[in-house]
Amino acid sequence: PGDRTQQPDAATGHSKEPSLRTASPRRYLMCPPTHFEVTYSINPWMDPAKPVDRRLALTQWEELRRTYLSLGHDVELLEPRAGLPDMVFAANGATVVDGRVLGARFAHPQRAPEAAAAREWFAAHGFPDIRLPEHVNEGEGDFAVTANLVLAGRGFRASPESHAEAQEFFGRPVVGLDLVDPRFYHLDTALCVLDDAVDGADAGVMYYPGAFSPGSRKVLARLFPEALVATEADALAFGLNAVSDGRNVLLPQAATGLFAPLRERGYEPVGLDLDELLKGGGSVKCCTLEIRA
Ligand code: ARG
Repeated sequence: PGDRTQQPDAATGHSKEPSLRTASPRRYLMCPPTHFEVTYSINPWMDPAKPVDRRLALTQWEELRRTYLSLGHDVELLEPRAGLPDMVFAANGATVVDGRVLGARFAHPQRAPEAAAAREWFAAHGFPDIRLPEHVNEGEGDFAVTANLVLAGRGFRASPESHAEAQEFFGRPVVGLDLVDPRFYHLDTALCVLDDAVDGADAGVMYYPGAFSPGSRKVLARLFPEALVATEADALAFGLNAVSDGRNVLLPQAATGLFAPLRERGYEPVGLDLDELLKGGGSVKCCTLEIRA
């Protein structure tokens, strides 16, 4: 594609080919869609009348896991439980920063037992600081972590009080962002941290402005003036529900408009097909909880 062609700089005659960024090894927690189905609807993407092909969901999920492994990342597995069809969306089970685990408290009763399942996993794997939260938060669904900040969505799932709770627990500034479009009901459907080693003008973030209130859009523009701003079409393809290791960005293949701008910024987009899981309202990021040591 044209975006990779060398463009000589008018002044220096030097090539402006972007240098690729550096990946850092990650540890992820995932849960296979063994019991995945859509029997209730708690977001506009879920239609219980539409059949789900669970085998296809498993194949697509397995490809995501295999891709992480091939990039050198660790993938831990959470045991799937019958009766919890959304458990494949492991990102919602907790938020882990500096090895501290803030548990989840789900907004909807259908998913409530997933919170204990995730806390039990962290307890069994030697994490000493696990907090049973007082306020509703759905883990990394609404919490995104940059070098110094925690960006926190609210409006559909996480309660505003959960933001103060997260700030106190993690000891990091939490920036609240108001979500206003029900199709983008979790922050991770509308915003993705591409580079979590820097903040400010250099910060690597991509987001879809239409998902946020006017004030929150201004906050994002102030914090991340160089952000990759996504179109509605790419956001609807769940292109922002992506996972980055600082260099490789795993995202739905259908979000075609994001590939060239990502490459221009030195990232390597890796397209995946997770369409079957989209019937539950989730994609790459929703299936992936990052365990930040
Ligand atoms: N069906 C799930 C729900 O509505 C999907 C969760 C998607 N997860 C995410 N991190 N956005 O709760």
